[in-house]
Amino acid sequence: MTATRRPTVDVDFSDPATYSEGIPHAAFADVRATEGLLWNPMPAAGSGGDEREGSEAGEGSDAGDDGFWAVTRHADIVSISRDTATFSSAAGHIQLYTIDDDALDARASMIDMDPPMHTRLRRLVSSAFTPKHVQGYLASIRTRAARLLDDYVEVGGGDWVEAVSKPLPIGVICDLMGVPESDHNYMIELTDHLVEGTSSRPLDPDAYGNTTELRLLPFNSPAAHGVNEYARHLGDKRRANPTDDLVSRLVHAEVDGEQLTDAEFARFFQLMIFAGNETTRSTMSHLGVAMAVFGQQFDRLRTDAALLDSATEEILRWASAIMYFRRTAMVDTEVAGTRIAKGDKVVMWYASANFDEEAFTDPQEFDVGRQTVPAHVAFGGGGAHFCLGASLARLEIKVLIEEYLARRVELVGPVGGLKRVSSNFVHGLERAEFTVQKLGR
Ligand code: HEM
Repeated sequence: MTATRRPTVDVDFSDPATYSEGIPHAAFADVRATEGLLWNPMPAAGSGGDEREGSEAGEGSDAGDDGFWAVTRHADIVSISRDTATFSSAAGHIQLYTIDDDALDARASMIDMDPPMHTRLRRLVSSAFTPKHVQGYLASIRTRAARLLDDYVEVGGGDWVEAVSKPLPIGVICDLMGVPESDHNYMIELTDHLVEGTSSRPLDPDAYGNTTELRLLPFNSPAAHGVNEYARHLGDKRRANPTDDLVSRLVHAEVDGEQLTDAEFARFFQLMIFAGNETTRSTMSHLGVAMAVFGQQFDRLRTDAALLDSATEEILRWASAIMYFRRTAMVDTEVAGTRIAKGDKVVMWYASANFDEEAFTDPQEFDVGRQTVPAHVAFGGGGAHFCLGASLARLEIKVLIEEYLARRVELVGPVGGLKRVSSNFVHGLERAEFTVQKLGR
């Protein structure tokens, strides 16, 4: 058993700069190949010259913020994810920097809760996200995807992120929530800024009329204030005139005989808009890259539609849109032979586990026919917090691939290189430009 914390790594997985060229595959592979877990020290939050000033929860409290255990192997992530009693989402924070208890309370949505409260809140919305229920959105997803692709093909390409991967998921999640089309661009703007809270380029604290201390806002971002205000406005409307959208359901829902407070509802809304949008967008951005770079793989799909489901899973794995989530140990415990003390941070690097050689054959290969057993962990390692929107995300991605194939075109590029989102949390692209080439008959 490894009794003490390991010394330092030569790469700091908490630093957004570590991801400037994408997922640091070589560094993760090194760590996976090393026995036990790796201790990743972190500089004090907000310390002078800290490159991570403005990185997610940059205003963390001092307690326990000297570092975290980096969990990089697939099997370890699966076992931690399924043990909510030992590894809490409610203690400390689910992102790298620990935040104070008042900030935790102010920010908490179901993703930062443990059972039984988590279970009660999840029950309010889970029926809207079952595979069967999300099929109800198929026609509108297809219409949206077809329209965006037609426009993209007509102008001969351009920035795929701006033209396709941004508008599609926000359109779908806004339809679900009941946000009118005229406000979709505003939601895109707000969620873009939320992610900037995880980068080294944060917004001014008073943006969007914010007067709340940033440490009390999700992602330390004033854009979260903008989302809250918007949620309140829409919630009021639906309270007065309910429709069949999710906002109407949430403002009238009861947990233990009580309705959600305004703040609880706003945090729910915030979670849905962020979780349903940025993640799917990032995956679709990488899908664009895969279409251009692995053209032959998409030719396989043209002749064998039965591979569409495995292709969708392969995109999710390869993109690994969310790079990590964190848990906090509630008791002294052990993972992979490494002793973990009560209160230690345990960070699950999905972006590593999805390329774990022990779990996947030739993990660096992009293979639309890959039989993913075990499954990738792009949606988390299973258990209570497994992505609520997994079926919806799968459907959106699959339909986008189908509509792309139906147009008999091929993306060429990326032209002029990719512009990546600067973040230690989201594996996203800001820009990915392609040209469109017609395929011969
Ligand atoms: C490709 C797209 C997506 C990816 C990669 C993704 C990834 C994730 C991950 C990694 C988690 C945490 C799992 C864990 O802690 O075990 C999560 C949770 C969650 N996701 Fe997704 N997600 C995606 C799409 C969506 C969509 C479309 C929605 C729709 C609303 C959504 C809603 C949520 C919610 C509400 C949670 C919290 C669940 C809970 O705490 O019980 N996600 N997602």
